[in-house]
Amino acid sequence: MIVYCLLVFLSLVAADHDDNSCHDYSCTNNNVAAFDPFRKECYCHCVDESSCSHLNCPHPYCSHFWIFYKCQCGECNTDSHCHCAGGETPRCIKDVFGGHQCHCDPAPVTTTIPPKTTQKPTTTQKPLVKLECHHRKISVIESIAENLHVEDGRAELCPGTTKHQTPEAFVINKCNSTAKSSWSQGLSIKAICDNKLPHLEAYTPISTFTPNGEYLAGFFIACNDRGFKMAAQTCTEAPMIINITDFTRPHVSDFYTILS
Ligand SMILES: *[C@@H]1O[C@H](CO)[C@@H](O)[C@H](O)[C@H]1NC(C)=O
Ligand SMILES: *[C@@H]1O[C@H](CO)[C@@H](O)[C@H](O)[C@H]1NC(C)=O
Repeated sequence: MIVYCLLVFLSLVAADHDDNSCHDYSCTNNNVAAFDPFRKECYCHCVDESSCSHLNCPHPYCSHFWIFYKCQCGECNTDSHCHCAGGETPRCIKDVFGGHQCHCDPAPVTTTIPPKTTQKPTTTQKPLVKLECHHRKISVIESIAENLHVEDGRAELCPGTTKHQTPEAFVINKCNSTAKSSWSQGLSIKAICDNKLPHLEAYTPISTFTPNGEYLAGFFIACNDRGFKMAAQTCTEAPMIINITDFTRPHVSDFYTILS
C-alpha cells in the first residue's frame, strides 16, 4: 500500500513537471518563459538589457523587477555604473520598487588624530537593544489601509525627490527609532521561520543588512509555508503587505530583526 501510494505520488510529480516545461509559452520583448512552482503557471521574465529596448528608457541599464518579474530601466546595475565627484564613493542602490538608482557617499572626513590622553572617556556607548514596536500594530495597519506614504525627516531622501518616504521612514516613524545608519543586524527571520529560533511577535520591525544587495525594511507579520509576510513601503509604493519567499529579491534569508 505504501509503495503504491509512493508510486502514485511520484507519477503525479513527474506529470506535473512535464506539463509545466513552458516550452510553448510565448513571451514578448525578449523575455524568457519560466515556471513558477508556487502559482503553478508559466510566466515571462526579463533576462538582459534587450528586454528594456521597447521601453524608451531614460536610463541605460535594465534589470529584473523582482516582484512582478518584469524588466525596468535603472541608472545602474552595479556601483561601477555610477559616477560621482572626486573622493565620493559611488553606490548603486537597489530599491525593490523604486528601481536602481545611483547615490554618492560623501568623501570620508579626514581628521587629525587627537593626542592620546590617559583620561577615560566620559560617555559610554549605549548597548544595542532590539527595536520593539509591535504595540504600534494598529498604526501600521492604518497606514496600509489609508494607502498613503509615511514620511519621516529622520529617514534618507528618496533619490531625485524631496520626500523622506523610503522603506526605513515607515519603521522610523512608527517606532520612533533612530535612522537606518545606526541599525545593526539582530535575529535571522529565516531561522525564526524554520523554527530554529523562538516565535517572533507580529509587527516586529525588520530590515535587510546586505550592503550592496536589494534593500527593504518594514514589519514582520507571520511566517508562511513559502517564507513570510511583511508590511513595507518603498519610495514608489505606499505601505502594503507583501510575501517574501526564496524567489523574491530581497529574499527570506536577507531579513533580520533590528538592533539600535
Ligand atoms: C521619540 O524619541 C525621542 C528621542 O529618543 C524622545 O525624546 C521622544 O519623547 C519620543 N517620542 C515618542 C512619541 O515616544
Ligand atoms: C501571499 O501568499 C498567500 C499564500 O501563502 C496568499 O494567500 C496571499 O494572497 C499572498 N499575498 C500577497 C500580497 O501576494
